[in-house]
Amino acid sequence: MPEKAELRIGNETIDLEVLEGSEGERALDIAELRSKTGFITMDPGYANTGSCESSICFINGEEGILRYRGYPIEQIADQCSFIETSYLLVYGELPNKEQLDNFRESIRYHTMLHEDFRLFYRALPKDAHPMAACSAACAALATFYPDSLDPRDSREIEISVHRLMAKLPTIASYAYNHSVGQPFMSPDNRLSYVGNLLHMLFATPCEPFEVDPVVEKALDLLFILHADHEQNCSTSTVRLVGSSHVNLFAAISAGINALWGPRHGGANQEVIEMLQAIAEEGITGKDFVERAKSRDDTSRLMGFGHRVYKNFDPRAKIIKKACFDVLQRLGVHSKLLEIAVELEELALKDEYFVERKLYPNVDFYSGVIYNAIGTPANMFTVMFAIGRLPGWIAQWNEMHQHKHKIGRPRQIYQGPTARDVTAIEGR
Ligand code: ACO
Repeated sequence: MPEKAELRIGNETIDLEVLEGSEGERALDIAELRSKTGFITMDPGYANTGSCESSICFINGEEGILRYRGYPIEQIADQCSFIETSYLLVYGELPNKEQLDNFRESIRYHTMLHEDFRLFYRALPKDAHPMAACSAACAALATFYPDSLDPRDSREIEISVHRLMAKLPTIASYAYNHSVGQPFMSPDNRLSYVGNLLHMLFATPCEPFEVDPVVEKALDLLFILHADHEQNCSTSTVRLVGSSHVNLFAAISAGINALWGPRHGGANQEVIEMLQAIAEEGITGKDFVERAKSRDDTSRLMGFGHRVYKNFDPRAKIIKKACFDVLQRLGVHSKLLEIAVELEELALKDEYFVERKLYPNVDFYSGVIYNAIGTPANMFTVMFAIGRLPGWIAQWNEMHQHKHKIGRPRQIYQGPTARDVTAIEGR
């Protein structure tokens, strides 16, 4: 392994440091390229740009590997709860029993929102998308908790981390309660993290509500699978926004907005809408796959393709299996699941998808589970955000623990060269 690489530009040769990760990934350190040569590197979409060194999440997209802090996702999904996984991501190691109990207790303690938050939601239109409501509410936490905003103070960080983990399910449920005109349900701290979320979403003050353990387990699993995914769009957003030393609430609010987009977390809502449209309009799977391939049609096969995975997304494999299990245990027959399976089979045999290495991603089957457990489609991406929160927090924390610069890419300017302003009469 060379310690340096050489770059020749014209007659000049410069040395570039080579960095190597613990899994053998390699990078050229170009931080001083511009100051030494006047050149910058160009990489739209950052597909080939390493923005940080990180110890949180490892992905090998060619082999379909995902690990959190070294632990294979399959083992985490099988043996850990979402709260344990969150602890692992945020603090670096799996908790022992005492650490887990303390973490869980602290999160339970912070689940309530300030009463005035009810007024905040009431100011929003009923049909506001819950992702917009959640991102706004998350940013608004900074107005209620000015005592924990300093990203350089470890005590303030600790409090804001626990507050965020505890309050995001309450924020999400209030957004939903408001959109359907139901009373805001207060948290019930006797319940588990996920059980409490289900209670706040689906209970009403007038009827008893029992958390269904099948649904609780399924949601816990989905959150684990969503919990981190290294430098994806929303995580990079959290890091970039956080690099200005803004508070955690503001950085996470930005991440929620990035996640909302249909090319990212918003794909889970789009997948279910795609499956519903196919079912309602009687389009055949074959016709839809043709449409997704066509240059004259903007439709994509939502839930397929990934920037990093050029092989099966390991999360999609686990979710597909869970999808069949959950539907069977709930006794739900899902036409949408049948269509999804047909689309997957067609696409995996189709030259277009094979050539481009497009496989089902995490969003392809997750929406079918959310749908079967009664979650409205516009809440799917909110569920993803709750799952991704510990990953965003861990990445934000890690950035602050290391020396880092404010994120500030360069550009190649292609606009007009210097010219003079003509007076308005002469334009
Ligand atoms: N359906 C049809 N064609 C596709 C799809 C798809 N789902 N995904 C990619 N392609 C095609 C593109 O048209 C392009 O074809 P071309 O080379 O002939 O122009 C080629 O495959 C490469 O696609 P890009 O968009 O350039 O790949 P990129 O790595 O930038 O994008 C992305 C990855 C955004 C996930 C893309 O595959 C996509 O839009 N998928 C559908 C949306 C989706 O499921 N997003 C969720 C991703 S997982 C997550 O964020 C949680």
